[in-house]
Amino acid sequence: MLKENDVKKSSLLNDIYSVLFSEEEIDKIVCRIANEITEAFKEKVLKNNEKLVIIAILNGSFQFVSDLVKKIDLPLQVEFMFASSYGNATKSSGEVEIKVGKNADVLDDPDAHLVIIEDIVDSGNTLSKILKNLKGKNNKSVSLCALFDKPDRRETAVDLQFVGARIPDEFIVGYGLDYCEKYRNLPYVGILKREIYE
Ligand code: IMP
Ligand code: MG
Repeated sequence: MLKENDVKKSSLLNDIYSVLFSEEEIDKIVCRIANEITEAFKEKVLKNNEKLVIIAILNGSFQFVSDLVKKIDLPLQVEFMFASSYGNATKSSGEVEIKVGKNADVLDDPDAHLVIIEDIVDSGNTLSKILKNLKGKNNKSVSLCALFDKPDRRETAVDLQFVGARIPDEFIVGYGLDYCEKYRNLPYVGILKREIYE
């Protein structure tokens, strides 16, 4: 149920069944992932002069990636990719549309380690389509990072190198995650009341 500290956006709060991760809990998770990424790439970047390129999958990862890059203690480049599969439903349509931002050539940079940042992995279709698009590109490595992993509804297996938290099969919103483009501005993550989408 809702905790006192989480009651911040009261106009949206009515639609939330319960808070799954408070701001403080999210902050701890993001710090932990940032440390893992720093550890994984520090020798490659600092000793071997290779590049770390963080690729945010928009729109959902905008809050996560913004906090994450501030905590990664390495020089890095940030790029953006757009993916959408949901339309306005709470189940993946299975068709994933991907658009690459302006520096698409970085995907093909032989010095670049790409870290793809997703808000949440559900069916796995989005990340596997992104990986398919990257096949044959001439970069140093591709790794996958997701703030949340919802394994119950997986249709396509994906190998995540960095994961924030496993969550049950519930539709969650906040901290970048939306339902019909709403709730992305919540500072915490909550389970959306079923009556909102059923
Ligand atoms: P997948 O292709 O089914 O793995 O879905 C990935 C995308 O679906 C994520 O990037 C989210 O945008 C969206 N998504 C999946 N589960 C949720 C949820 O519980 N809340 C909000 N968006 C979700
Ligand atoms: Mg998304």
